[in-house]
Amino acid sequence: MKGAQLLYSGKAKSIYRGETPNRLIMEFRDDITAFDGTKKNVLSEKGAFNCCVSAFLFELLEREGIRTHYLGRLDRTTMLVKALTMIPLEVVVRNRAAGSIVRNFSFTEGQILNPPVIVIDLKDDSRHDPMLNDDLILALKLVTPDELVELKEIALAINGTLSEFLDGQGILLVDLKLEFGRAEGEITLGDEISMDSMRLWDKETGRSMDKDVYRFDKGDVMGTYRAVARRITGGRCEV
Ligand code: ATP
Ligand code: TYD
Repeated sequence: MKGAQLLYSGKAKSIYRGETPNRLIMEFRDDITAFDGTKKNVLSEKGAFNCCVSAFLFELLEREGIRTHYLGRLDRTTMLVKALTMIPLEVVVRNRAAGSIVRNFSFTEGQILNPPVIVIDLKDDSRHDPMLNDDLILALKLVTPDELVELKEIALAINGTLSEFLDGQGILLVDLKLEFGRAEGEITLGDEISMDSMRLWDKETGRSMDKDVYRFDKGDVMGTYRAVARRITGGRCEV
């Protein structure tokens, strides 16, 4: 990002100062990581696909009246966002059992979870993102009781909107991870919604179309990201 001041560099994205204090530039890099960052690679064009899909889905959510940090795309790998005071929670909504809840509990892979199950983890890599419950979240004073109710309502609304949309593209939304922050006191969706943060299965074949392809060496990661980006956006992410 020529000229802009780097404020934070995470595992897959970099945050730069915007033109005003309430704006940030979010750059989606080509870095891909898994298992607490112990597995890492650089995959050409990954940042562009995730940026494009995120932008598309943020626009979809905004049209549905959901408050997001998204303000617009600047180029293939960057977007302008509202600066949020992030709440250090990873809010995961699960429609089917997969990943950690199959490892940790007696669910079977693919088991339908109806109503969807919300699992909230503490966003703290040094503690390996432990799972929280409502009492812990409130005792840690991460949100107020009213905000916790609101967070869950928004997370379910996002899950409903995205599940329905993706279903129309022949994709099952198995689960997704959301991060929220506050802007002018309002709970606002931040971060990204991409193949890194959603678990997506092809409805016909059951094949993974997300970062699980990378996590578990299931095949051609960038071929998968390209194909799913095409399906989600109707070809708007071609690079
Ligand atoms: P993880 O990979 O576990 O999400 P990370 O910090 O390595 O953690 P990146 O996605 O690389 O994640 O970095 C993006 C960072 O920017 C995250 O810490 C995220 O919480 C933060 N963030 C996302 N949206 C905003 C926003 N609108 N304002 C401020 N910070 C944001
Ligand atoms: P989860 O099953 O908890 O973790 P794992 O990938 O270790 O099995 O993941 C649930 C969903 O949340 C999945 O779509 C991936 C996403 N996710 C993130 O985007 N970032 C994270 O740090 C974690 C743990 C999950």
